[in-house]
Amino acid sequence: TLPRVYVTRQIPPEGLKILRESGQVQFELWDSDDVPVPRKELLQKVKGVDGLVCVLTEKIDAELLDAAGPNLKVLSTMSVGFDHLSLEEHIKGLICVGIRVGYTPDVLTDAVAELTVALLLTTSRRLIEATHEAKTGGWGTWRTLWLCGHELANSTVGILGLGRIGVAIAERLAPFKVKKFIYTDVAPRPELASIINAEYVSFNEMAKQSDFLAVCCALTPETKEICNKDLFSKMKNTSIFINTSRGGVVNQEDLYEALSTGQIAGAGLDVTVPEPLPTSHPLFTLKNCVILPHIASASYTTRNAMSALAANNLLLGLRGETMIKELKL
Ligand code: GLV
Ligand code: GLV
Repeated sequence: TLPRVYVTRQIPPEGLKILRESGQVQFELWDSDDVPVPRKELLQKVKGVDGLVCVLTEKIDAELLDAAGPNLKVLSTMSVGFDHLSLEEHIKGLICVGIRVGYTPDVLTDAVAELTVALLLTTSRRLIEATHEAKTGGWGTWRTLWLCGHELANSTVGILGLGRIGVAIAERLAPFKVKKFIYTDVAPRPELASIINAEYVSFNEMAKQSDFLAVCCALTPETKEICNKDLFSKMKNTSIFINTSRGGVVNQEDLYEALSTGQIAGAGLDVTVPEPLPTSHPLFTLKNCVILPHIASASYTTRNAMSALAANNLLLGLRGETMIKELKL
C-alpha cells in the first residue's frame, strides 16, 4: 500500500497536482485555505501517517509527533521559516529520531525582497498616512513639511542576519543610491557580503549607524526578542525599522515604546506576535507603524513554487532520496 500523507492546508494547485499525479502517495487534505485545521482534528488525522505537509500555522511539537506515531518519516513545510517546528533544539531532535524535514528557501527570495522594499518605502515615505489624508479631507493645501519622511539616497542600510533574503533586499535597494550597507550576524559572511559590498559590524554599531534596519534572520532561541529596548535606544530617532522575518525576534512592547516616544521614526512589520495581531493591539494606534498580515512571499508565482517544492521534498523524502531543500542543523 502507498505511504499515507496528511496535508494540513489546501495548498496552491501546483503542489497538489504533483502529489496527485505522482501515484506515489495516498493523501488526505484539510480542504480549506481560510481556516487552519483545528488542533484536535490535526492530532486525529496524523495518526499513523508516513508523511506530513504543513504550513507555518501548525505547531509541530512532541504532542503532534506522539499522535502521529512511529511511521512518520518525512515532514515537509511550505515555508522558509521553521520556528513552528518548535525551534532549533527540537528540529535537531526530529532529525535524530530519523524524521527528515523539508522546507522552501530560495523560491521565495525574490518575492520577500520585493515586499520588504515595498514595506520599507511605504513606511519611510508614510504612504498609508498619505492615502488616508487624501481620502479623508486632510489635504488642505500643498504644504512644505507635511508628510515628509526619510529617503534612501545617501543612507546607511543595516541588515540583521545576512542570508539570501538580506542580499536580495540590498541588491534591490542599491539603485536607490544607498551610501552603505552594513550587517551583523553570529559571524561574518564574506561570500554573501561581497555580493552587496556590505561591511560586517557589531550589533551595537548596526543599531547606531543604520538609517534603515531590516531584520532578515530566522527566529531561533538565540534571536528571540533580540530587537528590544537595548537596540531601539541606540538607534537614531530618524531611523526606520523593518521586519519581514518573524515577529518573535522583536519585543513588541519595547517597539511600541520606541515608536510612541519618537525614539525611532517608524516601523514596518509583516510579522507579529501573535498572528493575526488583535485589531485592538496598541501598535495599530500608531501612525508611524505599518502592519501587514504576513504577506512577504505572497505572489502567485512564489506561493505555487513553494507548494511544488514542498510536494517534491515530501515525495523525495518518502522515497529515501535527497530532498531538493532539506533542513540540516
Ligand atoms: C513565511 O514566512 C515563510 O517562512 O515561508
Ligand atoms: C532566510 O531564509 C535568508 O536566507 O535570509
